[in-house]
Amino acid sequence: MIPRTIARKGEGIVFIDQTLLPEHLEMVECTDLERLARAIRRLEVRGAPALGIAGAYGVAMAAMQSEAAEMEGFLAEAVNAAEFLRATRPTAVNLGWGIDRVLAAAGAAESVGAAKEAAVVEADRIAAEDEATCRAIGSHGAALIPDGARVLTHCNAGGLACSTWGTALGVVRSAVEAGKKVSVTACETRPLLQGGRLTAFELAEDGIPVRVITDSTAAFLMRKGEIDCVVVGADRITRDVAFNKIGTYMHAVCARHHGIPFYVAAPRSTFDQVLGEDEVEIEERDEEEIAVFNGRRTVREGVRCTNYAFDATPLDLVSGIITEEGVLRPPFDPMP
Ligand code: MRU
Repeated sequence: MIPRTIARKGEGIVFIDQTLLPEHLEMVECTDLERLARAIRRLEVRGAPALGIAGAYGVAMAAMQSEAAEMEGFLAEAVNAAEFLRATRPTAVNLGWGIDRVLAAAGAAESVGAAKEAAVVEADRIAAEDEATCRAIGSHGAALIPDGARVLTHCNAGGLACSTWGTALGVVRSAVEAGKKVSVTACETRPLLQGGRLTAFELAEDGIPVRVITDSTAAFLMRKGEIDCVVVGADRITRDVAFNKIGTYMHAVCARHHGIPFYVAAPRSTFDQVLGEDEVEIEERDEEEIAVFNGRRTVREGVRCTNYAFDATPLDLVSGIITEEGVLRPPFDPMP
């Protein structure tokens, strides 16, 4: 089992630099907000629940470092830190959720000292809850996975995307823990290869059978009868769609075509009760992530690349949403 993806260390944070995996498992100690923001933008820390924890610890770190004597100045600094972190990545709702929980805890305190304490306690609570939440998602989801199942997943919704255990991979881990034989087909997940680099790494570390395919192989394997179900994570679930890593939607369409169950595993903190699909900003990342591969330019200079980080899967393609409270079944409208 790999170490916790992200944790508090004194007044700072320690996290796995996921850009170095699978070759190097390196922990980064971080005590400043700029560094944390860079880590989030570069995907050193990534995955919706881990972003929630990172946002929470980021605000707690700013709170601990504040030299303000009065609550007004202290809270203004905390809000600045919060908005700075919130702007790093727009799609995963958990980032803002973690940030807002810590802000609210600090804001309810009556002195700067108490607010600092409350911020740290709340951030630690968010990190601790994450493991319990993932375990609960895992045990609800494991019941849906038949013995011998060949599960397809996309991107990384594992321990590396949370504090530990994972959401989609938590379902796999819990099924294995329950004595089921399960194997995983991990889509490599162009362009940043979270499936090939991260999902395969963490499952192999746990001795869970895994193979990696190119994203475009998924439909072919479904047609050949080599996939029994699809389980993915989510960055935001609105009343109409589930946002997840770009490519998820095509797996959902293909799964429906082949009569294969398509599950989304996500904590309640990933649900957005306010916005609809068209109001959510889908992160667009640097064209270079597509145009340069392994240090080599693979797309002619000057040719435009479109690099959406996420897509939206209509909920009518989803067979079930696995949460820590149980499995939601269609129709999902209105979302409970
Ligand atoms: O760009 P990333 O790597 O942060 O995207 C992550 C995903 O799309 C995950 O599937 C999602 O955050 C769920 S993680 C439990």
